[in-house]
Amino acid sequence: MDKILVKVCTGTTCFVMGGSNLQELHDIIPKKYGDKVEVQASNCLGLCSINWESSKAPYVKVDDDIVKEATVEKVLEAIDKKLAK
Ligand code: FES
Repeated sequence: MDKILVKVCTGTTCFVMGGSNLQELHDIIPKKYGDKVEVQASNCLGLCSINWESSKAPYVKVDDDIVKEATVEKVLEAIDKKLAK
């Protein structure tokens, strides 16, 4: 099975809108999933600028799926769903 790649946006918009809490993922993911999931910090994913007013930052990408208004729980849920496939 291919590794799941998680990209946590650390661009300014995401960071200000709560992305700073997501830094925990860098500890939690390796502990919980070992080498099945890789987590990376990413520059602006280009999602926040589409419509600032209704921005759903912070954003995290789990492979090609976008998690909007991401929280640690939401991201772990998205990973679990993928692993269950
Ligand atoms: S700052 Fe996160 S998508 Fe732009």
